[in-house]
Amino acid sequence: MREFVLYARKAATSTDFSLDDLPGSGGRMDLVARCVCNALWISHDLRRDACIHVVACGAPNPPLIISFYGSLLRAVSPDERSIASWIKKAPEGKNPGIRVRKLSFQHLIAELAADGRFFYIVHEKGRDISELHLREDAVFILGDHLGLPLKEEKFVARFPHEKLSLGSTSYLASQCITILNYELDRVRMRKEGNAPVGI
Ligand SMILES: C[S@@+](CC[C@H](N)C(=O)[O-])C[C@H]1O[C@@H](n2cnc3c(N)ncnc32)[C@H](O)[C@@H]1O
Repeated sequence: MREFVLYARKAATSTDFSLDDLPGSGGRMDLVARCVCNALWISHDLRRDACIHVVACGAPNPPLIISFYGSLLRAVSPDERSIASWIKKAPEGKNPGIRVRKLSFQHLIAELAADGRFFYIVHEKGRDISELHLREDAVFILGDHLGLPLKEEKFVARFPHEKLSLGSTSYLASQCITILNYELDRVRMRKEGNAPVGI
């Protein structure tokens, strides 16, 4: 399964943020919702082989991990407001595709590492993606508008990993997820023998 981890430094860790003010009261919940959309949605369908873990580190009760599973999501549509409204309802546990846990970033990484997962730290200063044989079933770790804290990057670096760059342009985290999904789709097409000539 392709897995994304978004480190969201300011994302609200209570349910009383306003759907009318996702950037402000939600601590950039607009950014979080866009990342969830780009990780899991394609046209008229969900990516059933993908999930995204949002590490919410904002006030008042950090850290909290909100995980979205494409294979299990029900009744969510891909717009920011719908995704954010489900984040608000997540503690009620009514959507089988959304799980909330009181867990830190490092605990999540240790859990995934114990499962033998390979990590890509997605960072402007990594190895260019064109030099890598991208692994489809890896965990891709991204920062938000403030980037991934160095302390957390060093923790991930204890486990099998590669630092992966999409070039010198600094993209939005949500844009990076789209690019990665596209590249991973191409890897899969090549494996299945469906790749267009030239890739
Ligand atoms: C808007 S950027 C954060 C920029 C922030 N000023 C920093 O220094 O990390 C959000 C996240 O997108 C990812 N990102 C953005 N552009 C990238 C690129 N060209 N290559 C790899 N990752 C990138 C990184 O994970 C980054 O933490």
